[in-house]
Amino acid sequence: MRPGRAVLLREHLEARTAFFDRVVLEALERGVDQVVIVGAGYDDRALRFRSPGVRFFEVDHPRTQADKRRRLRRFSEELPALVPVDLERDSIAAALAEAGHSETRPTLFICEGLLVYLGAEKITELLAGLAARAAPESELAASLATHAPGLPTHAVLEFANAARRTGRQEPWRTILPRDAHLDLLRNAGWVEAEVLDDADLRPNAPRGRSLLVRAHPDTVAP
Ligand SMILES: C[S@@+](CC[C@H](N)C(=O)[O-])C[C@H]1O[C@@H](n2cnc3c(N)ncnc32)[C@H](O)[C@@H]1O
Repeated sequence: MRPGRAVLLREHLEARTAFFDRVVLEALERGVDQVVIVGAGYDDRALRFRSPGVRFFEVDHPRTQADKRRRLRRFSEELPALVPVDLERDSIAAALAEAGHSETRPTLFICEGLLVYLGAEKITELLAGLAARAAPESELAASLATHAPGLPTHAVLEFANAARRTGRQEPWRTILPRDAHLDLLRNAGWVEAEVLDDADLRPNAPRGRSLLVRAHPDTVAP
């Protein structure tokens, strides 16, 4: 990013990028050969971390993917599997199966900067759908938007969206206290293994606003 006034945003994005890069590199080192990036947008890890035998699946709105496909073709013949899904309506599990994702080999699932755009019910549906495709040794890495436990959630959302340029067209829908957000993950079949705050990675990032979580499938979930 060009240096600008959005210093806190930059600290947040630097923490996020370093975290998800590390998660991908560690998964590839462990021999994971499927990486599913949900709400991929213009994520470039399928290019930066392309490796022989490793398949990247990118899930997003069909519109976003059409534009990305055009841009990617300028760089590479080899495209990630672009899986068109509207997470408000479609089944992620069915879409991944159709795209050739294997549910019998471990997968790294990434939800970076995505869950805040979905309501709590849709988050549960999405994460449960990913858990249904997760072979043992799979991992979920997600960023979660959080607020201090004493604050009223509806007021936090209203305040946050009012301050965003795109707060009306693409509202943030889920910002929760840390424990409530981790409960959403657990109820969808994931057990956290590492929970970091942005500020743990970038000392100048504000603490308490964003968590970076690694989780494993709950093997005792029904
Ligand atoms: C803030 S961007 C994050 C992009 C990328 N993961 C990153 O961290 O740079 C959120 C992404 O989620 C996607 N998204 C939001 N709601 C979605 C939905 N209902 N179905 C599919 N994709 C969605 C958007 O299209 C967008 O690409």
